[in-house]
Amino acid sequence: MRFLAAIPGFLTLTDWLLRPRDPALRVRVVGLEFRTPLGIAAGLDKNATWFEPLMALGFGAVEVGTATAQAQPGTPRNVTRLYKDRGLINAMGFPNEGAEAIAARVARRRKAEVLGINIGKTKVVELDDAVADYRRSTRQLAPHADYLALNVSSPNTPGLRELQTVERLTKLIAGVREELRGCGRPELPLLIKLAPDLADAEIEAIATMAVELGLAGIIATNTTTDTSVAANSAAELAAQSHGGVSGRPLKARSLEVLRLLRATTGGRLPLVSVGGMETVDDAWERILAGASLLQAYTAFVYEGPLWARRINRGLSRRLRESQWGSLEEAVGGGAS
Ligand code: FNR
Repeated sequence: MRFLAAIPGFLTLTDWLLRPRDPALRVRVVGLEFRTPLGIAAGLDKNATWFEPLMALGFGAVEVGTATAQAQPGTPRNVTRLYKDRGLINAMGFPNEGAEAIAARVARRRKAEVLGINIGKTKVVELDDAVADYRRSTRQLAPHADYLALNVSSPNTPGLRELQTVERLTKLIAGVREELRGCGRPELPLLIKLAPDLADAEIEAIATMAVELGLAGIIATNTTTDTSVAANSAAELAAQSHGGVSGRPLKARSLEVLRLLRATTGGRLPLVSVGGMETVDDAWERILAGASLLQAYTAFVYEGPLWARRINRGLSRRLRESQWGSLEEAVGGGAS
């Protein structure tokens, strides 16, 4: 896609062919306009090098990153397909060129679909210094983002997920907000991305905190460290046993977390559902369970470039068959 995108007119043509045309799919969430709720989850475009080609494939948003304040190598080839389970296991960490380089790239974008930027902790930075590290990334990237996602849930950066306590999160959010005010973007929607491996009580506590602090939303979930969910992939897991599992094996827990978040927040907070979504049925189920937006990574890897169009068309069909005239109504109304 990156190569083809250099051909004049290619992206315009691709976008014209694949774009979601049904106005009923449009949703307004966290003050942003999405042409479809379906977006690309963080990690596929870590360095913001191909978000425009991705958008041209019919997605409503791309979340670039995870970006860290300092450039770091990570382990970029550490991904294994769990074919029989339609999943992936990855132990990439956050290989990325750093917030400054990524900022320079996103600054050049033409205004297109929604661009989220996901930020995380630099590996060598101590957990106690994490707030300053996230603030540095915020300073660089907030001026160019449509929303900012705080990643506190990837399993491959040691200690990162310890940030998922109410106490630490409250401090992190306060620090990032101060930075947002400092760089003239106090209104920028701020979301947090959670792990599926938290206990239900922890998820409830964080959701309550998110409502109290007036966060823009919660993205759930990241990959799981529970490899037992990929029961058919013993051979592949013997070759790579550490990392986070994504795709179909994650589906049940991701949906469960969405339902828990919805029950706790009572619709007061937009929820972005991600994890194991593959089919139109899956996407529709998430909408009915209270998701305002949807994201995916693994299904796109398996299904290829026409996948978004298939899901978008399927969602349009579901809407026509439903009691709602538009997704906006379904999301804002009694969908859950
Ligand atoms: C990810 N994911 C991810 N998430 C994140 O917040 N920052 C990141 O850098 C990455 N990197 C990453 C790399 C790879 C290879 C995969 C498979 C996943 C997690 C991703 O955004 C998503 O939350 C999960 O993969 C669950 O969604 P799917 O893949 O089941 O649709």
